[in-house]
Amino acid sequence: MNLLAIETSCDETAAALIAETGNPRQPWQIRSSIVASQTAIHREWGGVVPELASRQHVRDICGVVEAALEQANASMSEVGGIAVTQGPGLVGSLLVGVSFAKALGWARGIPVIPVHHLAGHIESLVLAHGELPLPAAILVVSGGHTSLYVVPEPGVYHLVGRTRDDAAGEAYDKVAKLLGLGYPGGPVIDKLARQGRADRFTFPSTRLTHADRNAPSATGAGWLPPDVARRIDFSFSGLKTAVLRLVRERQGALAGDATNDAPPLPPEDIADICAGFQRTVVDALLDRLFEAAGWLGAQSIGIAGGVSANSQLRADAEIRGEKIQRPVFVPPLSLSTDNAAMIGAAGLRRYRAGLTAGLEFNAEASLALT
Ligand code: KG4
Ligand code: ZN
Repeated sequence: MNLLAIETSCDETAAALIAETGNPRQPWQIRSSIVASQTAIHREWGGVVPELASRQHVRDICGVVEAALEQANASMSEVGGIAVTQGPGLVGSLLVGVSFAKALGWARGIPVIPVHHLAGHIESLVLAHGELPLPAAILVVSGGHTSLYVVPEPGVYHLVGRTRDDAAGEAYDKVAKLLGLGYPGGPVIDKLARQGRADRFTFPSTRLTHADRNAPSATGAGWLPPDVARRIDFSFSGLKTAVLRLVRERQGALAGDATNDAPPLPPEDIADICAGFQRTVVDALLDRLFEAAGWLGAQSIGIAGGVSANSQLRADAEIRGEKIQRPVFVPPLSLSTDNAAMIGAAGLRRYRAGLTAGLEFNAEASLALT
């Protein structure tokens, strides 16, 4: 069985051909994976502009699907179904992939399988490493999400923690913007942080110790004791504000009495701020992931999504995993940021569980995974 997969939830137009292997330990393999990134278009605006994103998906989708078939040396007659990201994401962008998949599925008379974007990120780990020892504690950390899941059995995902405000990747992108480092912020901060001193500027890490009246009550309920469940939620907006305050303060000191524009910070300051910021984010993510993993009796630990590309997060997770003698899985860089191969993997999982859909399903910007 070959599945064509399509992903258009944000600013990457992606298509892939994924095949079943027949090996239950390593169930899927990538025959091709094409990603057309729109980063160059959005960089000019300092972030993703939804309307520009949907228009570019329309321009790219046909060529990207054709390229995926060509790279796999396959024709549509070999494709048994189409997996597509249903949500969450930018609804105009999602609609391009969903409409394309439905039209192609209808024309070819093959099933269409709607896939949750975060299920795709989680299954990117299985696609790369084979079935994980379960239960697994898995952190999906990207520009749009910071969500912690327990996977008790294959294809079952329970949310046990999430951010109450910004996603970690969003904090990277915002901090990069205020430091004048461009978009996306993750890779450049990651690089500069390696040249800086993490102990020169320390930033507060928000711990949510009190009940949030606006939060849905159930985040980790049933899986974690209530006080632990609260602690496991994330918050990054305070950190972003702390960086902003420090930057303004230092710019003020540099400007002295001069009334002209805020002066640029010296490169050394920027590197040290990046290092301090990154230290705080990585610790906040790993403290919660490993605390939850302990309570959940996790046999393995996974980190997926764009921020899982972060070098310090990867290195520190590995060290923490060794300490508690649990394997830590991260996807290869090609599968950590948005791609269609992971959607194909999650799609094959659903297909084998009989979870295909009629053509009446729609793109769903706020679709939630339990
Ligand atoms: O998964 P992804 O491609 O898209 C979403 O679903 O959001 O993740 C993109 C995010 C961006 O915020 C980007 O800054 C971040 O992943 N990112 C990183 C790194 N590479 C990408 N963050 C930290 N360190 C990195 N090396
Ligand atoms: Zn993503």
